[in-house]
Amino acid sequence: MNKPEGTASNIQSTLAENRLFPPPAEFAGKARIDSKRLTELRAEAEKDFVSFWAKLAREELNWKQPFSVTLDDSKAPNYRWFSDGKINVSYNCIDRHLATHGDKPAIIFEGEPGDVATLTYKQLHAEVCKLANGLKSLGVVKGDRVVIYLPMIAQAVIAMQACARIGATHSVVFGGFSAQSLRDRIEGASAKLLITADGGTRGAHVVELKKAVDEALAGGCKCIESVVVYKRTGKPIEWTRGRDVWWHELTEKASATCEPEWVDAEHPLFMLYTSGSTGKPKGIQHSSGGYLLGAHVTSKWVFDLHDADVFWCTADVGWITGHTYIAYGPLSNGATIVMYEGGPMTPDPGRFWKICQDHGVTIFYTAPTAIRALAKMGEQIPKRYDLSKLRLLGSVGEPINPEAWMWYHRVIGKEKLPIVDTWWQTETGAILMSPLPGATATKPGSCTQPLPGIFAEIVDEAGNLIQGNDAGGYLVITRPWPSMLRTVYGDNERYLSTYWSQFGDPLTARAEKRPLLYVAGDSAHRDKDGYYWILGRMDDVLKVAGHRLGTAEVESALVAHPRVAEAAVVGRPHEIKGEGIVAFVICKGERPTGKEAEALSRELREFVSKSMGPIAKPDEIRFTDALPKTRSGKIMRRLLRSVAKDEEITQDVSTLENPGIVDQLRGRA
Ligand code: WTA
Repeated sequence: MNKPEGTASNIQSTLAENRLFPPPAEFAGKARIDSKRLTELRAEAEKDFVSFWAKLAREELNWKQPFSVTLDDSKAPNYRWFSDGKINVSYNCIDRHLATHGDKPAIIFEGEPGDVATLTYKQLHAEVCKLANGLKSLGVVKGDRVVIYLPMIAQAVIAMQACARIGATHSVVFGGFSAQSLRDRIEGASAKLLITADGGTRGAHVVELKKAVDEALAGGCKCIESVVVYKRTGKPIEWTRGRDVWWHELTEKASATCEPEWVDAEHPLFMLYTSGSTGKPKGIQHSSGGYLLGAHVTSKWVFDLHDADVFWCTADVGWITGHTYIAYGPLSNGATIVMYEGGPMTPDPGRFWKICQDHGVTIFYTAPTAIRALAKMGEQIPKRYDLSKLRLLGSVGEPINPEAWMWYHRVIGKEKLPIVDTWWQTETGAILMSPLPGATATKPGSCTQPLPGIFAEIVDEAGNLIQGNDAGGYLVITRPWPSMLRTVYGDNERYLSTYWSQFGDPLTARAEKRPLLYVAGDSAHRDKDGYYWILGRMDDVLKVAGHRLGTAEVESALVAHPRVAEAAVVGRPHEIKGEGIVAFVICKGERPTGKEAEALSRELREFVSKSMGPIAKPDEIRFTDALPKTRSGKIMRRLLRSVAKDEEITQDVSTLENPGIVDQLRGRA
């Protein structure tokens, strides 16, 4: 990991932000949690965080068999929560609402072409059971892995819930990922079955998911026995007899009831591949009971869910936000969610606001990149729509700059609605830091404070807690929490080394009864009021339009091209996307220049887009004869970041193996 770099100027900018927005009185008056309740919850958690979570788990979830052990830390940091309890996540998200909310809409789906379908809790129950029975008929049993590669359609949630119902562990692969990425994830999970669609529509294009599946499976993936295909577009597709099964044929005769499989609370509900600083993406493995508790409680608290709410989280189910705040958390609370298949600009940049208007959205949760892109289109666009039902706004996935926050507040929130800036990660399973909208005064750009039951700190490079406020450094979580990741699928060593070993060996710390620190990988600043400001990643993880990518993945995609000898990839601030990708490339043979360089640059950008997916396409490629390396052979990424930004070079380049290369990198030689 790098030193907390560039923080000084960021800290300056966050210190300059001293606007404070108290929760609107009307909102606070009706909120589930007001400031008094928040203080009580914090005090309870502080006194005994284990009992705090045990009480919530008993009150908020339905258990088939109650747990007697709340937290087992004997194998820390492989913590186990509620380990002798038995539960089913799908039962908690659907069945328990049937008696009181059976006819309430669970999912309001809108396709990009404009088709709308509503599923009540009863209908959702029937669809989930039919698919669950269908999966069983194809031989899927508890513990099997199922890969889901679908567009943003209601069937994605049905598929996830069906897996949960029968105890199969799902691995959702974002529909924007390429065949190659899909193959890696299928093989990584040794999945038995894959669920996909004939296609989906996004940005007025058909996304040919089935074609990517065929390509992925042609090159291996012997583990896959069946491919279930949902008919979404009706466009012709290739068909492999004996392997491919239509979803509608599989489910048409299946029973609409399916007894849930009661699993141990620690049973893996899903894994989700995410990028780290090195090597291939890792399968972050989550539990059933602890994960659901985090998803449920944070949905209820942070989004202040009430019975009449219509909740729309615009994330894709392929990312953690779509898991926790589409497929699980809101449903566990019996809420109505909106799902939208397509792009924000199709057919025009009013689409999001039209959806809010048409479906009476009350809570809107999106990413800063979308806010910036929509803000750029001008405020007359949202003004054309009736957004009067909105009562709460949320932001997630990357730091929100104060300008974007203020636009959201002023133009969408009409200066009245609270904004919850929620900080969390694939690994944390659920929101860890956020304002509570009826209790916390907000500051534009700050995720404010940890939720009750979550203990965050800032440490220096040696892992020492920095006491008091006005502190900058590494963000760590000092006590375990129920929705935390359990391991990296198939690679517990990587789990230990990535998240727990930065400040010493966790197993030694455990033996010596010292606290273990979960290292989030973000740098943060805590201001004088104890508010946290996330400054960004300290490793080589990029956030491009809210999508998490590793520089190492893009580099290995580049070196797979026959002309590329070596590549180094860095992020560069981008007005809309938050971060854009710049690649420094050494070619085999002569360094290309002029027209040849232009053509090759285009070719390489397409090549990455094809092999990883369009989200990973570099903004710029710079050809060079060498990369800046230290004498020990480490690429100086920090220097490359400055070069990519066209900044003055302030770093010491005297340790460089090849100091002359800097001018070439900057395009001056
Ligand atoms: C960043 C997304 C600032 C952070 C839920 C984190 C944020 C990474 C925020 C995890 C926020 C997420 N403010 N930064 N509100 N939310 N991040 O796994 O760098 O896709 O470590 O999870 O996103 O990304 P992931």
